[in-house]
Amino acid sequence: KTNATLKVMIAGAPAAGKGTQCAKIIEKYNLVHISVGDILRDEVKNGTAAGKKAKDFMDRGVLVPDEVVVEMVKSRLAQEDVKQRGWLLDGYPRSASQAEAIEKEAIRPDLFLLIQVPDELLVERVVGRRLDPVTGAIYHLKYNPPPPEIVSRLQQRSDDTEEKCRVRVDTHNANVGAVVGYYKDVMVEIDGTQSMDDVFAAISKALDQAIAKSDPLEAYC
Ligand code: AP5
Repeated sequence: KTNATLKVMIAGAPAAGKGTQCAKIIEKYNLVHISVGDILRDEVKNGTAAGKKAKDFMDRGVLVPDEVVVEMVKSRLAQEDVKQRGWLLDGYPRSASQAEAIEKEAIRPDLFLLIQVPDELLVERVVGRRLDPVTGAIYHLKYNPPPPEIVSRLQQRSDDTEEKCRVRVDTHNANVGAVVGYYKDVMVEIDGTQSMDDVFAAISKALDQAIAKSDPLEAYC
């Protein structure tokens, strides 16, 4: 584990592997994982006002309005654990207006990871994904098969259909260029078509370099 309070954003198309890699990153680097998709799904499940507003947009695979998302992210980033351990922001910003909203607060990452996977691979990843509600683990029927004894409890996300995946991919492709424009100076592109372990090796390298840059002493610890 490292004590560096690194600030990291992770971006990529739906099913590019963000959640899979975030689990590995927090295990090794102890950053606070803030997944906007996970927070929104919790709000929907708990029937909060924010969840009620978000549900229809998520079901359609389009972006939830900024009025719901921006304050949610800003207030999470202001919490104590984040200040002490650093953050790993997953799924934000997804548009120029979301990037602007945090630029205004001088919230900037040390590293912007962009996981690149061609569109044609994404549908297969989405429809084969299964989630364990007990541990939160992410499986894939072909690429990361679950142990047989837990198969009966696994769940599928309601937006993990081929049709909704295509809308989510289009939404991503329409916005990613604008978002990248804000973070070019700290961006590292990662080839997300490699095995999960190889993707993580590339991400670890980028994180270690960012740590060395932000705190040269830490690199020797
Ligand atoms: P969100 O939950 O963020 O979904 P997403 O961006 O579509 O990304 P996913 O969670 O689908 O994929 P992932 O990249 O985490 O992939 P995973 O690791 O699971 O957002 C959902 C919705 O919330 C949005 O559509 C929107 O409505 C709303 N929302 C969220 N953020 C918002 C924002 N900022 N503003 C407005 N609205 C917002 O991997 C996928 C599968 O592939 C798994 O089965 C995995 O096992 C497998 N896999 C992973 N890596 C590999 C590999 N290297 N090789 C083979 N298989 C792999």
